[in-house]
Amino acid sequence: MDKPRILVARAVFPEVVSRLAQYFEVENNQADEPWSKQQLADKLRDKVGAFTTGAERIDADALAAAPHLKICANMAVGYNNFDLPAMTARKVLATNTPDVLTETTADFGFALLMATARRVTESEHYLRAGKWQRWSYDMFAGSDVHGSTLGILGMGRIGQGIARRGAHGFGMNVIYHNRSRLSPELEAQCKARYVSKDELLRMADHLVLVLPYSPESHHTIGAAELALMKPTANLINIARGGIVDDAALAAALRERKIAGAGLDVYEGEPKVHPDLLTVPNVVLTPHIASATVPTRKAMADLAADNLIGFLVHGKPLTPLNPEVLG
Ligand code: GLV
Repeated sequence: MDKPRILVARAVFPEVVSRLAQYFEVENNQADEPWSKQQLADKLRDKVGAFTTGAERIDADALAAAPHLKICANMAVGYNNFDLPAMTARKVLATNTPDVLTETTADFGFALLMATARRVTESEHYLRAGKWQRWSYDMFAGSDVHGSTLGILGMGRIGQGIARRGAHGFGMNVIYHNRSRLSPELEAQCKARYVSKDELLRMADHLVLVLPYSPESHHTIGAAELALMKPTANLINIARGGIVDDAALAAALRERKIAGAGLDVYEGEPKVHPDLLTVPNVVLTPHIASATVPTRKAMADLAADNLIGFLVHGKPLTPLNPEVLG
């Protein structure tokens, strides 16, 4: 019997492609060629499943071109590349990779927070440029992490991981804002206090964004919100581009309305707003918060297991729209 045909849209661990090939006829992209929207649509035309990353947009147009498609398994916890209502309407299952990246991503949130607070990349650039002649009392003096106020906007699994690190590891005073308040048990575990969004902006010394992107969360942090923050505060975005108005942030950094920012995600990435590239008080990384070898492997495995689970055994592991399962 013919094996079901699937598309693996990006280069991924070869052993994961080999595992998929035991069950499916796989068209892969191990050369990691950038495909246009039309090329992706053409490749989906005869496929029942797709292994995608956050970079492949699955919308009504892509679905219209893919009459046999039954599942898209995203190798990411975020899924704003999926038009979920359109997928559900077409009865195409969507899956993501929650949990396996939580602790790694929370670690990175802290890495970016600390690099920003202690001006790690700015001082390294200075050193590499041969500008370091002698020690001085205020050279790259930043802000403290221990004992400061950690603000978290978006208190899902990753937000809670960051809260636990801050409260238990660094003795930080943790405040958070979220659409819904955590249970008293979880608040106690995270040592986190619920505040309004305005209070969060006004009180945080380090504000970490960990909320999902949606049209509602577009530009959650713009000029008005940045103006509420302390001039000594740092903003960290490990969530999604578009949650922050990058032009407004670059202006606030240049005018020292806030002290610094640490960014892993950008509006329209991989393009980065040119003004962010010229302000010194920002740490910039290329969307790598989940990038450790074991975690990326676990994410790829989970996406593959979702394809095998659903197409072979009828049981996906982490469905986003389980209503299509009937
Ligand atoms: C990364 O950004 C992810 O959503 O997994």
